[in-house]
Amino acid sequence: MLVTAMEPEDREAVQAIAHLCGTEVDVAAELGRGWALPWVIRDAEGGAPIAFLVGWRAADELHVIDIGTHPDHRRRGAARKLLLELIAYGKAHGFRLVVLEVSASNGPARSLYGSLGFGVARIRENYYSDAGEDGLEMLLVLDPETIGAPGSPQEASS
Ligand SMILES: CC(C)(COP(=O)(O)OP(=O)(O)OC[C@H]1O[C@@H](n2cnc3c(N)ncnc32)[C@H](O)[C@@H]1OP(=O)(O)O)[C@@H](O)C(=O)NCCC(=O)NCCS
Repeated sequence: MLVTAMEPEDREAVQAIAHLCGTEVDVAAELGRGWALPWVIRDAEGGAPIAFLVGWRAADELHVIDIGTHPDHRRRGAARKLLLELIAYGKAHGFRLVVLEVSASNGPARSLYGSLGFGVARIRENYYSDAGEDGLEMLLVLDPETIGAPGSPQEASS
């Protein structure tokens, strides 16, 4: 599996995956945002995307705006690989933390983030008001100077 930048010609495939994941991605808009990191995973060079990630750079933080894997390709490590790539990017470029928002009932995603060391920083009650669901803000601290925060390296290893 290869992580590459999202290309304009990936639009249909990414939108189809997003749709199957119950979300939407405006590929053209993300490709036009100087602060966005729109990435995909392909099984082989030149192949169609099987998973996508949209990250945003915001000051010294990386935000995971959306991530999704085609249902036919789940549990093969695609989402983990995308997030590991984002984490490596963040460390290489001096970002302090990675932040994301997940619905409290999204077990697969929570398990994925937890396995990478993300911790729950804050519960946003009734964040998804139409579903009456809480949102969880999860953080992974990349800067080892930031001790004691949820998702700090110390907490992840304990
Ligand atoms: C969550 C999602 C992105 C995971 O994608 P994936 O490519 O299947 O994930 P990976 O194969 O990289 O899984 C890595 C780890 O995450 C956890 N995980 C992933 N799917 C899981 C599931 N269905 N149940 C429990 N744990 C799961 C496991 O720890 C897994 O490691 P393992 O397979 O060695 O046990 C995918 O299920 C998806 O697209 N869901 C719909 C969209 C979504 O909810 N996005 C997140 C929005 S916040």
